[in-house]
Amino acid sequence: MTAAASIPLNPTVLVFDSGLGGLTVLREIAASRRDLNLVYAADDAVFPYGRLEDEALIARVSAVMDELIARYRPSLAVIACNTASTLTLPVLRAKHSIPFVGTVPAIKPACAQSKTKRISVLATPGTVKRDYTRALIEEFAGDCQVDLVGSAHLAPLAEAYLRGEEAADDRIAAEIAPAFREDGRKTDTVVLACTHYPLLLGRLKQLAPWPVEWIDPAPAIARRVASLLPTPGPMVTAPIRAHFTSGKAPGVALAKSLQSFGIEPAGEAV
Ligand code: DGL
Repeated sequence: MTAAASIPLNPTVLVFDSGLGGLTVLREIAASRRDLNLVYAADDAVFPYGRLEDEALIARVSAVMDELIARYRPSLAVIACNTASTLTLPVLRAKHSIPFVGTVPAIKPACAQSKTKRISVLATPGTVKRDYTRALIEEFAGDCQVDLVGSAHLAPLAEAYLRGEEAADDRIAAEIAPAFREDGRKTDTVVLACTHYPLLLGRLKQLAPWPVEWIDPAPAIARRVASLLPTPGPMVTAPIRAHFTSGKAPGVALAKSLQSFGIEPAGEAV
């Protein structure tokens, strides 16, 4: 029996991230499948994950996912966070019987489409140092030169932006500058290897030293989710539920941002 065979007509799908970055993945899933009961969960009590040591991150994600899965009983969970996926997927899959879809740096498609054969992977410091990321380069980069660029501040800046707080141009520009290299070959493609970064895509394009292709993995993740679910059932009209581990209610600006992603924050913020 396949995993999809036991999934109900309007399955519940849990989309999880350390904070608000997974909204960029949620948006694609919601647009491609209108029949899903979607729950968005943010571990905002601990954000950002990029600064956590491996053992602490595994323990945290494992404990939070246990609670979320017990509470929402999803048919499938999406770990919409590169920092967590590159470390915790084996642990989660060993503990739970539902399918997990992870988010990992899109190195293969980026190298395949690069013309200069030089790409940058822009990610959190955690993702940049992972063996998983280095293995992806080994396996898929081929003749393409890959620069790993760790950014400590870009995810918090993206959060600030959605919360209506200051996220100054010069700070964003300083975070992305190391991803643009022109010694020898010139960078023509940047992998957005943190789900927070597409939240800033318009500003990244404006502030880039030269135009590049920006690779956002969200559409590929949405396709993968759809491939693991039964054919679409009737459309669901209920708003997307949200779960914040801090228990804090979103402020006015964030509530407005959440609404633009189809989330009614007054619904179920816990
Ligand atoms: N959104 C997360 C990712 O895709 C990272 C942000 C954080 O540091 O928590 O890696």
